[in-house]
Amino acid sequence: MGNFYDELLGAWDKSNATKLKARKYIHEDEIEWVSTPQDEKVGLLVAPETGFETWGTESAVAEIAPGWNTGKHAHGEEGLYITQGEGFSVISGKRYDWAKGTTLWVPFGAEHQHFNTGDGPARYYSVTCSHLEQFLGIFKLEQLETCGPTDNIVDAPVSADGFDDKGRRLRLWWDEAPQVRSSEDDRGLKQDPDAPLLADEAFDTTMSTHHSLMIHFMRGNGFQNKELEISGILSDDPHTHGGRHAHMEAILYILQGEGYSIVDGEKIPWRQGTCFHVQGPQTMHQHFNESDVASHMLRTAPGIRMNFFQEIAEERFPYLWFESHDHIH
Ligand SMILES: [Fe+2]
Repeated sequence: MGNFYDELLGAWDKSNATKLKARKYIHEDEIEWVSTPQDEKVGLLVAPETGFETWGTESAVAEIAPGWNTGKHAHGEEGLYITQGEGFSVISGKRYDWAKGTTLWVPFGAEHQHFNTGDGPARYYSVTCSHLEQFLGIFKLEQLETCGPTDNIVDAPVSADGFDDKGRRLRLWWDEAPQVRSSEDDRGLKQDPDAPLLADEAFDTTMSTHHSLMIHFMRGNGFQNKELEISGILSDDPHTHGGRHAHMEAILYILQGEGYSIVDGEKIPWRQGTCFHVQGPQTMHQHFNESDVASHMLRTAPGIRMNFFQEIAEERFPYLWFESHDHIH
């Protein structure tokens, strides 16, 4: 029997073996839908419960029937993206209207509830950090009301601009999200695999090398999220691929398009409704859009990556750049 230090010496190999065996992607038709006091219909996507080795986050999709509202509850930070329908959310007593393509941020501990005011079902993608919070002993979920048919519309003051009383953005409409296209000059850069550029250099020398188009949600725009981010949409034009690169954990949910990604040498097929995992801390990957429409990948990353580990571990696990986006030849 070894002592604690022997355990530590073996820990890297052990966690790599665990990650190798872990699930890498899940599709809409594999979701196990459940009913909870909060959501009449909800299913986990990339989460420890579904076999993924995440950094303590979990993503889910939930559906609100027409004329219904979700429960009202409070927990840590949450990021939401509306994939279908229209309605509003009441967050800390203020009303934020939304429609397909809206991004929402729930601050840590804020009481919130969602209402479907449309004729059809409303759907949202959600990301939270319950597992990380439980590890730290700071997870506290409080259920204040149960989901059901809306019998009275809450009379809450409306936030017209999407900001709360503290000046933080909680809602961004689709039309408000900046769309940044890469230029033709950025295409086709190939880097020596033995001498990859650091991401900062790559971004400086060939701006927007990442994808054909980036749509920015929780990057700037006045959001003050820390624990997680739904940074936006990565888009590649029909029959093109993104740049090959390596970085820490990210979760990608496919809203549009069809193709595949090579993640750590493994081929991950995707189409609308697929959610897949880039495990980190330095996972090589590249996305290939094989369809006739632009791909739309909704990108989520944990706050402990963006605001903490990416910076302190940049020498040990640098964000590497091997190739810019290009046409598929
Ligand atoms: Fe990436």
